[in-house]
Amino acid sequence: MNNKKTNKWDEKAKNYARYSPCKNSFEANVLEAVKKMGISFEDKTILDVGCGTGVYTIRVAKVAKSVDGLDFSQNMLQILRDDALDLGIENIKTHHTTWSDFDMKNRIYDIALCTMSPAVKSEKELEKFHSSASIKIYLGWAGVRDNTILDDLFLAHNSVYTPPNGAKRVKKWLQTEDIKYQLENFEELKIKIRSFKEAVENYTWHLNVRGLEPDTKKIKKILESLRDEDGNIREQTINKMDLIVW
Ligand SMILES: C[S@@+](CC[C@H](N)C(=O)[O-])C[C@H]1O[C@@H](n2cnc3c(N)ncnc32)[C@H](O)[C@@H]1O
Repeated sequence: MNNKKTNKWDEKAKNYARYSPCKNSFEANVLEAVKKMGISFEDKTILDVGCGTGVYTIRVAKVAKSVDGLDFSQNMLQILRDDALDLGIENIKTHHTTWSDFDMKNRIYDIALCTMSPAVKSEKELEKFHSSASIKIYLGWAGVRDNTILDDLFLAHNSVYTPPNGAKRVKKWLQTEDIKYQLENFEELKIKIRSFKEAVENYTWHLNVRGLEPDTKKIKKILESLRDEDGNIREQTINKMDLIVW
């Protein structure tokens, strides 16, 4: 297992979004789009690759027969287990592993899910995802994450922030393999208010995860100029994501 990366997601877990029952959340809209594509989770066996804190895992578990959630961050999985326990949900099994190392034991699920996770990245990982279930649902970055704070921080570290584009890779692979898929584009305006300390931690994480050496003085200087009257940092991001189903 890649421990260096595991630890980065472990650090992220405490501030990562958790399951919410909200009916008009982004996750609810994604699952509504999946439903409109004619897919139901009812009584199905589900595999959630890179499940994180379980924002989708818990939603689908409410109607599914069973859900296997796998993630290489133990802290993310712990939050998922805590929230499932609080909600009395007993049909989720968690697996602490990378996607590459996960032993499928020749099992084929009804539906495999991978949302916003770099777990399914290489061609080999994509092939494995493709063979893991009858129906595959992939939600990934589509090359747009407009966020002036990230842009400025990367520039201050002599780098350029390039938004992730996992969806492009998946679509290209499906086209090469001549596999038909359904596609829906999502755009999300996300506003997040963080305390100064949380903001420093968050942007340090983003620089770290891209292999840059965070300069705390530079981070604080940029964030200092953005404090609101309560001393907090307001972050506005426009994200584009693709929902790919095959
Ligand atoms: C941005 S979070 C997405 C979590 C959740 N699927 C969601 O939509 O909120 C990415 C998750 O993928 C996990 N992850 C990244 N690479 C992985 C890998 N190679 N194997 C397993 N999990 C991985 C991280 O630990 C993290 O929990």
